[in-house]
Amino acid sequence: MSKSTSPRCAVFASGGGSNFQALIDRIASKDLHATIALCISNNSAAGALERAQIVGIPTLHCTQSQFTDPAAYTRALLAALKNNNIEYIILAGYMKMIPREVIATYRNRIVNIHPALLPAFGGKGMYGHYVHEAVIAYGARITGVTVHLVDEEYDHGSILMQQSCQVLDTDTPQSLAARVLAVEHDTYWRAIEGLVNESIVIEGRKVRYLA
Ligand code: GRF
Repeated sequence: MSKSTSPRCAVFASGGGSNFQALIDRIASKDLHATIALCISNNSAAGALERAQIVGIPTLHCTQSQFTDPAAYTRALLAALKNNNIEYIILAGYMKMIPREVIATYRNRIVNIHPALLPAFGGKGMYGHYVHEAVIAYGARITGVTVHLVDEEYDHGSILMQQSCQVLDTDTPQSLAARVLAVEHDTYWRAIEGLVNESIVIEGRKVRYLA
């Protein structure tokens, strides 16, 4: 696919969408050179949909239960992405698996952010407060965020960027989540910018940063 100056991205989000908002803000401040052309949610009450509507980004509520079979759901997702000329998919707190056909169609062009330093504290069931509870229970002194490509396994694709932060003796899962979330907001746009401007080059499992 040819490189566009402001690649068209779809954001998939299930919840409040603070990461989505941070991306909207970085696009507005011209730090991130991308266009969010569509926001898709499985949850009609997602705060992310509201955030999109406020800034005029088209929204789509799309969930498996609206369809008679999984193939029809996958076709609907792919059609929405194609009709909106989407080049990249950004997961921002999306709680559903991405269908395999969508992963294959957008290979190396789907990103996710995870609130820990993968491969630690990742995988099935490791989301939201479970991650921070596990970090504290394990006694880790450092945690952080990981931005990675999405492949067919949970939290497994190539790592694009990581940023660490401290775990304090006094931390609760809530206080740790807040510290990590601030790091997420400062990291996600940087990784996406690198991916879309191709200064982060995917070389199999590893990535290379061009100077
Ligand atoms: C973030 O912690 C992100 O790492 C994880 O889901 C959470 C979404 O938060 N994948 P928000 O909806 O962006 O506020």
